[in-house]
Amino acid sequence: QPRVFSGIQPSGGLTLGNYLGAMRRFVDWQERGLKEGFETIFCMVDQHAITVWQDPEALRRQTRELAAGYIASGLDPSKSILFNQSQVPEHAQLAWIFNCVARMGWMQRMTQWKDKAGKNTQNASLGLFAYPALMAADILVYHATHIPVGEDQKQHVELTRDIAAKFNHDYKTEFFPITEPVIEGAATRVMSLRDGSKKMSKSDPSDMARINMTDDADAIASKIRKARTDPDALPSEVAGLAERPEAKNLVNIYAALADMSMEQVLGDFGGKQFSEFKPALADLAVAKLSPISTEMARLMTQPDEIDAIIGKGALKAREIAEPILKKTYDIVGMIRS
Ligand code: TYM
Repeated sequence: QPRVFSGIQPSGGLTLGNYLGAMRRFVDWQERGLKEGFETIFCMVDQHAITVWQDPEALRRQTRELAAGYIASGLDPSKSILFNQSQVPEHAQLAWIFNCVARMGWMQRMTQWKDKAGKNTQNASLGLFAYPALMAADILVYHATHIPVGEDQKQHVELTRDIAAKFNHDYKTEFFPITEPVIEGAATRVMSLRDGSKKMSKSDPSDMARINMTDDADAIASKIRKARTDPDALPSEVAGLAERPEAKNLVNIYAALADMSMEQVLGDFGGKQFSEFKPALADLAVAKLSPISTEMARLMTQPDEIDAIIGKGALKAREIAEPILKKTYDIVGMIRS
C-alpha cells in the first residue's frame, strides 16, 4: 500500500511551476488515495523556509497563503492530511538522528546546496546545508513511499533513499522504507518566462519571469505577452521545438493547463505566430488560474479558519509520526521513560 507525502516551502508566493509540477499532482494522488484507501499527506515546510532568512510576519502570511493555495487547488482537509511542519515536532526530532546518519559529502553534492549557498559557503546557514536530512525526516517519519515532486527535487528524494538505506544498514533493521520520487505529468520542469534555460522560481528577482498563483488576469496576460520568444512561427511537430527552449516552455505550459499533449497543441497551433498563440495561452491560463486565486483570496480573509484547519491536520499527522519516532528512538538506543 503506498503512502504519499510531499511539501512546499512557504518562502514566497506560489508559482505556476509549483501548481503544475506539484499541487495539481497532489490533487490527483488525493483522489487516487481515496479510491484505493491509502493516506496522502501534504505539508507547508516552514522549517525548510527559514534555512534562508524570512521575515516573521511574512512567513506566517505565506504559510497561510500556501495552505489556502492547497485548498483552493482541490486538496481537501477531510481527504488528505494538510499541516504545517513546525507544528509536528517529530520532523525536527527525526532530522537530528538523520543528521548523524547522513555524511557531509552527500550534502556537498546536492546541486540545490551549491546553487543556493553560492561561492561563499562559509556564510550559509548550517540549516541550509542539512536541509536534505530534514526533508528525509519529513518523508520517513510517515514511512511514506511515494513522493510527488517536480524534477528539481529528484536528487533530494534520492538522498532520502540513501539515508534510509544507511540507517537500516547501521542499525541492522528494515525499519525505513525505500522511497520513490514520483516525477510525472506534462510539467515537471516549468521554465522562466524570461529565460528558457532557468526554471520558474519564486525566488527569481524578476517578477516577470514567473506567474504567481495570486496574479490577476491583467498581470497574467501581460507576463505572457511579454514572455521571451523567438521570431519564428510554431512548428507542427514537437521535434521542431528542440532548439527553442522558450517556445517549448510556452507550448508545454499550454499543454499542461489544457490537459493536452504537446503534439495536440501543435496540431492546433503549428504554423501560427506567437502573436496568435500568446493571447490563447493567456486566456487559458486566466480561465484555469483565476478560480484558484479568487478562492485563495477568499480563504485569506479568514486566517483563523486556516489556522484551525492546519491545527487539526497537525494532530492527525502526529498520530502517524509519533509511534514511528518512538520506534526509531528504541532502535537507536534512546531511553523513553
Ligand atoms: P519547493 O518549495 O521549491 O517547490 C515545491 C514543489 O514544486 C515543484 N516545483 C516545480 N515543478 C515544476 N516546475 C517548476 N518550475 C517548479 N518549481 C518548483 C518542486 O519540485 C516541488 O515539488 N525541498 C522541497 C520541499 C520539501 C519536500 C519535502 C518535498 C520539503 N520536504 C518532502 C517533498 C517531500 C522544496 O524546496 O520544494
